[in-house]
Amino acid sequence: MTAVSQLGYLGLGVKDLGEWAAYAEQTLGIERVATDADGTMLLRLDEHHHRFALHQDAHDDITYSGWQVDTAADLKTIGTRLEAGGVDVAWGTREESERRRVINLIRFKDPDGHDVEVFYGPQMASAPFVSKKGGTSFVAGSQGLGHFVIAANNLETTMDFYTSMLGMKVSDYVTRGRLKLGFLHCNPRHHSIAFVEFPGAPKRANHFMLQLEDFDTVGRTWDSVQSGAAPVIMTLGRHSNDEMVSFYMRNPSGFGVEYGWGAREVDDSCWQVAQYDTTSTWGHKSPDRTAIAAP
Ligand SMILES: [Fe+2]
Repeated sequence: MTAVSQLGYLGLGVKDLGEWAAYAEQTLGIERVATDADGTMLLRLDEHHHRFALHQDAHDDITYSGWQVDTAADLKTIGTRLEAGGVDVAWGTREESERRRVINLIRFKDPDGHDVEVFYGPQMASAPFVSKKGGTSFVAGSQGLGHFVIAANNLETTMDFYTSMLGMKVSDYVTRGRLKLGFLHCNPRHHSIAFVEFPGAPKRANHFMLQLEDFDTVGRTWDSVQSGAAPVIMTLGRHSNDEMVSFYMRNPSGFGVEYGWGAREVDDSCWQVAQYDTTSTWGHKSPDRTAIAAP
């Protein structure tokens, strides 16, 4: 089945671009590459031109996701499949493609009304990624920028859309009391997207995750966060399903960033779907009892 191959980019609508610029470069260690004429700030973390587009917007939320396919033929196949499934698909104009730095894209909404884009042909950077936060490098490239977790009104309906329309595969589930999470992959990264069932959630974004090459970078950043660089959402811990060691901090838009290392990878030739009754094997303690430790 033709499928998306990686999470290419995320669009964020943020209230304070200046605060985000400082947080992105100093705390996350990702690099500001350009500011478009409309003020949109583009950030990179690997060989792709950019992975995040931050738009001036009062929502302070993830506003769209961009999923890469390998070829023009794959884009056409997925677009046609969505249309056959009754989804309203907008084929990207030249101007939209140029704005996203891709060859072509389509736009549509998922069952929760989230804006989703599928594209092929991302622009690559002309120089290697070098973080201003010394020694910081990310596990990205063909695994995509990382992962993100958003709210879904009905977990199964949303999971079914992403598997049947975009060709993603189920990794596993976490169910603990009323907490229900589902995880999907499209390459060896354990999950590129996950959903937490939360009908009517005021903010769609739970968190996005950046995976570091080096555990010491996670440790040093954990030190700086404990010293006040960003509010802590979850302490250092290891997740049950992807086995990532990570901590969670609050970004300037008020939702989470998971900063992690050491996740296991999916091998589709022998992967078996599982369910867990806990998100973490140790740690990931919340100083705020209302927060959710979504892997
Ligand atoms: Fe996560």
